[in-house]
Amino acid sequence: MTTLTWWQRGVIYQVYPRSFQDKNGDGVGDLAGITERLDHLAMLGVDALWISPIYPSPMADFGYDVADYCAIDPLFGSLAEFDALVARAHALGIRVLLDFVPNHSSDRHPWFVDSRASRDSPKRDWYLWRDPAPDGGPPNNWLSRFGGSAWEFDAATGQYYYHAFLREQPDLNWRHPDVRAAMDGVLRFWLERGVDGFRVDVLWLLIKDAQFRDNPPNPDAAAGEPDHHRLLQTHTEDQPEVQDIVRSMRATLDGFGERVLIGEIYLPVQRLVAYYGTHGEGANLPFNFQLINAHWSAVNLARIITEYEALLPPHAWPNWVLGNHDNPRVASRLGAAQARVAAMLLLTLRGTPTLYYGDEIGMHDVVVPADRVQDPAELRQPGIGQGRDPERTPMQWDASANGGFTTGTPWLPPGDTRQVNVASQTDDPASMLALYRRLLALRRATPALVGGAVGQVRAQGDVLTYERSLPGEDGDRPTRIRVALNLGALPATVPAHAGVLLLSTDATRPDAAANGDTLQLAADEGVVILCTDGAAGERR
Ligand code: GLC
Repeated sequence: MTTLTWWQRGVIYQVYPRSFQDKNGDGVGDLAGITERLDHLAMLGVDALWISPIYPSPMADFGYDVADYCAIDPLFGSLAEFDALVARAHALGIRVLLDFVPNHSSDRHPWFVDSRASRDSPKRDWYLWRDPAPDGGPPNNWLSRFGGSAWEFDAATGQYYYHAFLREQPDLNWRHPDVRAAMDGVLRFWLERGVDGFRVDVLWLLIKDAQFRDNPPNPDAAAGEPDHHRLLQTHTEDQPEVQDIVRSMRATLDGFGERVLIGEIYLPVQRLVAYYGTHGEGANLPFNFQLINAHWSAVNLARIITEYEALLPPHAWPNWVLGNHDNPRVASRLGAAQARVAAMLLLTLRGTPTLYYGDEIGMHDVVVPADRVQDPAELRQPGIGQGRDPERTPMQWDASANGGFTTGTPWLPPGDTRQVNVASQTDDPASMLALYRRLLALRRATPALVGGAVGQVRAQGDVLTYERSLPGEDGDRPTRIRVALNLGALPATVPAHAGVLLLSTDATRPDAAANGDTLQLAADEGVVILCTDGAAGERR
């Protein structure tokens, strides 16, 4: 255990800053608000806070369009307020991670303004400019992830520039050494300010094909899907040269001691694991999003866990993500009862868990009326389920109309604050919040749940079981923890291993009630059991 670093032992909590806490009453969350609410994170028992972008931005993509990488948008506060946030978080033992958005800047960033000014600009090649095709159209068939061509024509200079997302988000040219040097300076700026690491936005997209070849058609494309699914992303994602960039980011972080490099990477797991590097010199945590998209069955989850563990290189530390600002919330994906089971899964698997704000109280996706839609992904491709506003709504602190989030008009409508809020769950032992707190406390207190091997991953009917085990010291017996999760709507019987019940998702189950041979799980119940039957378990 002592050999694990803080980000291996710890749990990460993502805050979407526009929606966490609004201190100045303008309807949008801010840094002072986050600082005020850090006690909630401490009470919950998480170890690190990742804040989605807070840099100056025209907010075309709500901060993922950065106009200055080394400052704070006045909407969120000031550098002094950021420093105060870091100081308070560190005083509480909570690390602070920033969102680093290197793939594209805002079109208002001075670099792009300069680049677009003329073909001779020294910054011209900091972005991806190409001549029109012979017919005057876009240089190739590449598509934007927000719909339509990924090329925007600039009449003044007669060329197109590439944007993987909005036209307001031109892609930087990561083959240019000056871009790399400038971005390295950005990382150092924040590291010197005390930031403990970064979540790197769309890390797998940084490098595009040097020859700008057309992407091939996607034979599996289906109607009603986002536009860019028409093509395979063969030449616009996961290019081999990206690994060198990942390595250099990691080297910069390593120069500052124990910091963490996390990559946002949506790739099949076979390709995802390459982002750890060939001998651990890549990202510390290439985000593993499999639980977000998984078909929720015991058989499938057993397969996912086993396959991921088997593919991890020996130097790699696993991680699991249950929700984020780009995907429907877990309580809406799975329902309230299974969201509790999912919490137990996330916090008892091997590897660093990442939680999304509000999931700890079971917040649901909020239906956003058409006239209040904010997300450009929805505005550009309406009605195909691309909108991300529903999972970005204000944190529900109390039962008031705005949930204690703001005294002004919230930028997105709050959810069912009367039903679901922190205040009412705080002293309710049956609440989702209580379950999360107990799971986090159990994890912290149980070395086998943090550093132990995972093995015996099995699906039996609707029940998923696995074991976490840690060898004993000085002739002591190994510690073996059994997790049994009932994903179904019927009761099920599982072996109890003469064990001690450490935790159930059902708060009414009496403690220490697992000392028989078997245990009857209720529908949608998960349990964590400390085995005392002494049989040695298989590893991994
Ligand atoms: C990432 C972010 C997403 C954003 C996109 C473009 O996927 O998580 O919110 O829209 O990058 O920056």
